[in-house]
Amino acid sequence: MARRKKIYEGKAKILYEGPEPGTIVQYFKDDATAFNAEKKDVIEGKGVLNNRLSEFFMTGLNHIGVPTHFLKRLNMREQLVRACEIVPLEVIVRNFAAGTMSKRLGIEEGTQLPRPIVEYCYKDDGLGDPLVTDEHIAAFGWASQQDMDDILSLALRVNDYMSGLMYGVGIKLVDFKIEIGRVYDGDFQRLIIADEISPDSCRLWDMESGQKLDKDVFRRDLGNLTDAYSEVARRLGVMPKSAPVTKPTLIN
Ligand code: C5P
Repeated sequence: MARRKKIYEGKAKILYEGPEPGTIVQYFKDDATAFNAEKKDVIEGKGVLNNRLSEFFMTGLNHIGVPTHFLKRLNMREQLVRACEIVPLEVIVRNFAAGTMSKRLGIEEGTQLPRPIVEYCYKDDGLGDPLVTDEHIAAFGWASQQDMDDILSLALRVNDYMSGLMYGVGIKLVDFKIEIGRVYDGDFQRLIIADEISPDSCRLWDMESGQKLDKDVFRRDLGNLTDAYSEVARRLGVMPKSAPVTKPTLIN
């Protein structure tokens, strides 16, 4: 069998050419990185959990009319996605202060924000993904004003969907990051949710205890990362209730 062509390898995922034009195979690695890859480890089972959780979130979004790149899961670590041109922005939505917002503005972590706040960072690892404003985005042509209106609306819809889903299983959605892709349907351009939505890119806190169930467990050395991600999967019904938390046993 011919070797498939690798298109790109990032910190947590590898992209391969898909079986049909316009498709890509997204492979989830077990590698965990933080602080722009200054902290690194391999966490067994993380890729399997993120593949399954991202499938779960993106499928739900597709069903409620929020377009995503997700087409289907192929196996434990791979999913088929629609090829798209990535807008060079990390779109962050925050409901509660945490992380860089708390540091930057001196707001205590966990403080509820008056309304969801959307931030944009320019996707450039070399620069550490700096925060930018609409002005930079327009002036440097990273996205048009129409794109920015659509991105804001998509980000807030994802926030409402994810917040409600998490609330239903006793988890507070503190913040998250999404990436946006451009696809072309004939002469028309559309924006869709791309990359992944997983505990790697969200802050998820248990509503009762405040326990962190996201990548901060790795960033801040708070315990076992796969236990935390497995707990999220278990609560969402992505894993059987009886499954041991350390070994990700996934339902098809
Ligand atoms: O670090 P910061 O507080 O800005 O992160 C906000 C949210 O965006 C967190 O949920 C974090 O996991 C996510 N994020 C990400 N990838 C980045 C930066 C932030 O997934 N490069």
